[in-house]
Amino acid sequence: MKRLLLCAFCLCQASAFSQDLTVRADRPGAAISPTMWGIFFEDINMAADGGLYAELVKNRSFEFNAPLMGWKEHSTTPGDGSILVLNRGEENPANPRYVRISHITDGAYGLSNEGFRGMGIKKDEQYHFSIWTRMHRGTGIGLRLELVGPDGQKIATARLKPAGGEGWQKDTVSLAAGATEPKAQLYMWIEGQGSIDVDMVSLFPHHTWKERPGGLRADLVQLLADMKPGFIRFPGGCIVEGRDLSNRYQWKNTVGKVEDRKLIINRWNTEFAHRLTPDYFQSFGLGFFEYFQLAEDIGAEPLPILNCGMACQFNTAEVVAADELGPYIQDALDLIEFANGPVSGKWGGLRAAMGHPEPFHLKMMGVGNEQWGPQYVEHYTIFTKAIKDKYPDIRLVNSVGPNPDGDLFNFLNDTLRKLHADILDEHYYRQPEWFLQNAGRYDHYDRSGPKIFAGEYAAQSKAVVSPQNKNDWQCALSEAAYMTGLERNADVVQMASYAPLFAHVEGWQWTPDLIWFDNLRSYGTPNYYVQKIFSANKGSVVVPLSRAGAPLEGQNGLYGSATLDNKTEELVLKLVNTTDRPMNPSIRVEGVKKLPGRAYNESIKATGLDKTNSLDDPKAVSSKKEAISFRKGNVFSPVLLPYSVNVVRIMIH
Ligand code: AHR
Repeated sequence: MKRLLLCAFCLCQASAFSQDLTVRADRPGAAISPTMWGIFFEDINMAADGGLYAELVKNRSFEFNAPLMGWKEHSTTPGDGSILVLNRGEENPANPRYVRISHITDGAYGLSNEGFRGMGIKKDEQYHFSIWTRMHRGTGIGLRLELVGPDGQKIATARLKPAGGEGWQKDTVSLAAGATEPKAQLYMWIEGQGSIDVDMVSLFPHHTWKERPGGLRADLVQLLADMKPGFIRFPGGCIVEGRDLSNRYQWKNTVGKVEDRKLIINRWNTEFAHRLTPDYFQSFGLGFFEYFQLAEDIGAEPLPILNCGMACQFNTAEVVAADELGPYIQDALDLIEFANGPVSGKWGGLRAAMGHPEPFHLKMMGVGNEQWGPQYVEHYTIFTKAIKDKYPDIRLVNSVGPNPDGDLFNFLNDTLRKLHADILDEHYYRQPEWFLQNAGRYDHYDRSGPKIFAGEYAAQSKAVVSPQNKNDWQCALSEAAYMTGLERNADVVQMASYAPLFAHVEGWQWTPDLIWFDNLRSYGTPNYYVQKIFSANKGSVVVPLSRAGAPLEGQNGLYGSATLDNKTEELVLKLVNTTDRPMNPSIRVEGVKKLPGRAYNESIKATGLDKTNSLDDPKAVSSKKEAISFRKGNVFSPVLLPYSVNVVRIMIH
C-alpha cells in the first residue's frame, strides 16, 4: 500500500502542474467554529482506569468478576492468615463486596496489588494511600504498607493504624518514594492479630492534574491541554452503547462519591480475541463530573454522547422498544440539569455537592453513538422532541452510521437531512489514500443543511481493527491533507476529532491511537502533532486559497487551506506537501498592500513515511518553527520540504 501511495505521488510529480497559488485575504468567508478541532475520549485501551484516572490500585473494591483479580496473598507459612470475600448486596448494592482479612499467628501475612501492569512510582513524590476498614475481631491490628519494585527493592514504606470501630471508616497515610519504578506493587502487611474488614483500597500520586486529590494523570491532561481543543466528546464510542444494554454507559452511576459508583465490565475487555484484556473494568472514578471539570479546565466545550436505547450494533444490537424509552430520555434530560441546572434542583444540587455550584454551560449533546437503520430514526425522533421541547437551545449530534458512504450512510444521511437534524456525526476509519482522495468531500455539501461533525477518524496503515496499524507519518500526513478540506469547508464542518485518543502500551485493544503511554511516560504520535498544529492555528475566518481558480486539494501532491486570524491580524496558511520532493510554490496574496517580508513556518516533517514516535523518542516527528524572509511585496515562496505539513503565519497589516 505504501508503495502504491508513493507511485501516486511520483505520478503527480511527473505532471506539469503550475505551482502558482493565490490567496484572497480580502475575501473573508466562513467563520471557523471555536469547536472546530476537538478531542474524542473513550475508555478503550485503558484510557480511564490504568490511564487518565490516576488511581494505582487495580480492583480496589473487589468488584471485578473475579473478586481477587489483581491481588495476591503472601504469608511466611500457609495458614498464617486468610481472606474471605463478603457480599453485603442488600445494604450496599453499588459496592457490595469487601474482604475480611484474618491474621492468626506470629508469621507474616499480607496482600499485594499489582496495579495496572504495575504501578508507576516517581522518586521524591508523595503517594496517598487510603482504605475503608471496620474491625471484625481484636483491636490491635495495624497495616504496614510497602511499595516494592520487581526485584523486591522497597521504594516506600508507611504504617497505618486503623482507628478501629464497628462501623466503616476511611483511614489515610502518605508514602514518600525513594526511587523511580514503572512496575512497582503495593504490599499491605497485617500487623497484630485479629480480623479486619477492608474495602476501597486506594493509592494516588499527590501530583495529579491541578493537584486534585483522587485526580487525573497530569502528564496526560497536559498533552490534551496543549492541543487547545475546542470540545471533548465523551464517553465514546461504542462504550456508550455497551455490548448489550445492561452494559451501556449510564452517567448517573458515574457521579457522587467514588465508593458509591457501581463498577461494570469494560466492553473492550473481551471484544478482540487477539487483544483480550480480562482485567479491564470501569470503576468510573473518572465519571461525568470529572469529565465536565476537565473540559472546563482546558477550555473545551463538553459534548456528551448518550445511549439512545440501542446497544452496539456490531454486537448484540439490542434495541429498547419505543414505548419504553422513558428512562433513557430522562437520563438525557437529567444530564442537562446536572450540567446546567440550578443548585436548588436534584441534579444541580449534586453538582454543587461535588464542588461545582456554577453551571458547566453544556450546549450540545449526542443522541446515540454509531447507530444505523430505521430504529435509530425512530429513536432520534422521540429523543429530539423530548429534548428540544424542554431545552430548545441544546444542539443535538446524530449518527449517520459507521461509514462515510454506502447504504447505511445514505439512508441516515438522506433521512436525517429531511428531518432537519442539527449536526451529523460522520466516522471514517480508512486507509491513507482515502484521506488524500477525499480532501474535497465537503466542497459540494449542502450549505444550508445540517452541520457536520467528523466525530471519529484516523488513517489506518493496514486495515480497521488490525493490530498491525501504526501511527506512522504516512497516516498523519494524509490526515493533515484531509483536514485542509475540513477547514476550507468550515461553514459546513464545525467539529472534528481523531479517534481513539489514548492507549496504554501494554493494555491496548485498538490501534492507531493519538497518545500512547506507559505507567510513567507518555507521548504524542505524529497524528497528535498534526491535530495540535491545526488546532493551535485555526484562525478566525476562511479565505480562498486556489491554484488556477480551483481549491488546492491535491494538485501536484499539494493540499492547502487559508484562514485569517483576526486577533493577531495574520494570514494563516496550511500547506501539506505529500510528495517526496521539496516544493517552492509562489503564493500571491491579494487584498493586502505589501507583506512585511518576514513570516513564520511551523512545520512537521519526517525522514520517511514509516516514521513514528515512541516512549524513547517521543518527538522524533514533531513541529519546528522557523522564520522565513522574502522580498517585500505581495508574493512569497516558502520552501515546503518533502512529506511535510506547514503552517505559515504572516502579518498582513
Ligand atoms: O474508536 C473506536 C471505535 O470505533 C468507537 O468506539 C466506535 O464508535 C467506532 O466504531
